[in-house]
Amino acid sequence: SSPSSIDLRTWVRDIPDFPKPGILFRDLTPLMRDPEGWGEAIRLLGLLCERVQPDLIVGIESRGFIVGTALATIVGVGFVPVRKPGKLPGEVIGVDYSLEYGTDRLEIHSDALGDGSRVLIVDDLLATGGTAAACTELVLKAGGELCGFGFLAELAALEGRNRLPQEQPIESLIIYS
Ligand code: PRP
Ligand code: HPA
Repeated sequence: SSPSSIDLRTWVRDIPDFPKPGILFRDLTPLMRDPEGWGEAIRLLGLLCERVQPDLIVGIESRGFIVGTALATIVGVGFVPVRKPGKLPGEVIGVDYSLEYGTDRLEIHSDALGDGSRVLIVDDLLATGGTAAACTELVLKAGGELCGFGFLAELAALEGRNRLPQEQPIESLIIYS
């Protein structure tokens, strides 16, 4: 386990005016499509897990599932989905939130985190932080103990990390200033 000399930005594609005029969309699908880039991205998030020792990875629908399940598998811990409303079949806890280009609601199974499981929250990208902040609220409401955040990319100008608890590591593999 060593730090990286691979530049993950190689595999990010910029798409102007998606999904709305004025938004420069950082498309991470080329990274996911490339075995070398993707393997490196998940390996680096694995190093974060070695530091913070989560019991569970919580991933946010839908792109957070891609990151979270890959990571949970290499680390050897369980995965818990945080979903858009009305999708989870069991008893849920929900929270409303706003994001860079809309508003929504997130839900988690009430019994998913047991008591005091150490949770790492992951998603593909940190923008305004509304989604990750809502997920934080859900994790705490569900009785989880937060141990950190992991993102493939962060849009630093939106200052999303300021909306997250500052006591745990917030790690983004690619930071756009
Ligand atoms: C995107 C992204 C993050 C969130 C980041 O998800 O995957 O979850 O927005 O924005 P924020 O930091 O401003 O909250 P989106 O809602 O587009 O859903 P998707 O993963 O299903 O495409
Ligand atoms: N790229 C990917 N996902 C996003 C973005 C972006 O620029 N903004 C909000 N979610």
